[in-house]
Amino acid sequence: MMTVLPYRISQQRLCSLRGTFSTTFAASQTKPMATKKSKPQQRRRSPVRRNTKSKTVVAKRARRSPSGKAGLVNEWMELRQSPIHGLGAFSLTDIPKGTRIIEYTGEKISNAEADRRYDDEAMRQHHTFLFILNERTCVDAAFEGNESRFINHSCDPNCEAVIERGHIWIEALKKIPAGTELAYDYAYEDDPDYTEKDLLFYACRCGAPNCRGTIVNTRKKLKR
Ligand SMILES: C[S@@+](CC[C@H](N)C(=O)[O-])C[C@H]1O[C@@H](n2cnc3c(N)ncnc32)[C@H](O)[C@@H]1O
Ligand SMILES: [Zn+2]
Repeated sequence: MMTVLPYRISQQRLCSLRGTFSTTFAASQTKPMATKKSKPQQRRRSPVRRNTKSKTVVAKRARRSPSGKAGLVNEWMELRQSPIHGLGAFSLTDIPKGTRIIEYTGEKISNAEADRRYDDEAMRQHHTFLFILNERTCVDAAFEGNESRFINHSCDPNCEAVIERGHIWIEALKKIPAGTELAYDYAYEDDPDYTEKDLLFYACRCGAPNCRGTIVNTRKKLKR
């Protein structure tokens, strides 16, 4: 019998400075891809509410996620100011390896819609809550999102993102001592044409000894 595994990725979405996302997505995935659980999900349409009296159909709008605030989230994590960036997530207690800490939730949108919502070139500083779900769909945690969206990136991560049946889970990669900042590698997709300036647009401040200097998953060495 074939074992059906979830596929593991740790890539938050990079709204491309150039090129399209969909042509490069497959290459950024780790195998296995073609399993029952890892097949691309159907793009879910926004639920529609029917007004039976007037027969009009009103699309239900996604709710903007409330602004984050420091405090307890669940049995494993809390939010507080991070030395890496803004608000971050921290372990409340020792977290055993493999623990499913939180689900990364948000509005499921098409990649085209993500491009409409976020234009990297128009941003002074890159800041999004997008996560690639599959080659067609992103999760935008700016809408319908929970506190998982405050987990920062690290080049030396203690967590990873696991996709299973269309859900994204943040799991402990190793035993995490209480009080540690939780982080996974966003691994923004590299582009051979990226200049140092492009890579520094996604500058990383994780502080790890092996920090790449950029959130982009590149082997290029940055002059710093
Ligand atoms: C999903 S949010 C993480 C939460 C963020 N700290 C906040 O308060 O909104 C992702 C954004 O946080 C920032 N970020 C996360 N990790 C980072 C890192 N290692 N270095 C620099 N910026 C980071 C980037 O602006 C990125 O687009
Ligand atoms: Zn780093």
